[in-house]
Amino acid sequence: MPRKPTLPKLRQAAAGCRACDLWERGTQTVFGEGGSRARVMLVGEQPGDREDLEGRPFVGPAGRILDDSLEKAGIDRRAVYVTNVVKHFKWEPRGKRRIHQKPNSVEIGACRPWLDAEIALVKPDVVVCLGATAAQALLGRTFRVSRQRGEFVPSSLAPRVLATVHPSSILRAPDDETRRAETSRFVADLKRVAKALK
Ligand code: URA
Repeated sequence: MPRKPTLPKLRQAAAGCRACDLWERGTQTVFGEGGSRARVMLVGEQPGDREDLEGRPFVGPAGRILDDSLEKAGIDRRAVYVTNVVKHFKWEPRGKRRIHQKPNSVEIGACRPWLDAEIALVKPDVVVCLGATAAQALLGRTFRVSRQRGEFVPSSLAPRVLATVHPSSILRAPDDETRRAETSRFVADLKRVAKALK
């Protein structure tokens, strides 16, 4: 960890991270992205296949849902810092495909100093946990997104902290109608974030 960290210094240090074994499987560290003065920090689980290849968070299919939903909620993606609790893609081969695997608590713990350093530097007004992995890593193992989504919850991470679903859960909706309904709920949660910024 750099002694006087800046985002570029952190990114450079994280590129060589070997704190857990995931560096062996991932193409590269996918560090967070966004301005050092961003008022909102969005925290996902880990980079996916596209993110691993491009080296940037939320640039794949889940990222497209996120971008569209942010726009619908009136939040400029440029005003947002986007990152993940784990910064390497964890996957297993299935035929030619790389299938996402959930990070375990050792991997999440090993990666945590990077996220803590990002939060300490950016000092966002609002932290948004996207999905259960981020919510439980940041708000505790007993946190249930299904029960507490869209609610601001007390936390020392930032003045306001809220959890919602992961945009990839919207991608997995079984039909168009469910997808539309789930997107509206996601946008409604993001609108609460937008309102908190006013
Ligand atoms: N899913 C995540 O949690 N993060 C990404 O960066 C992409 C997909």
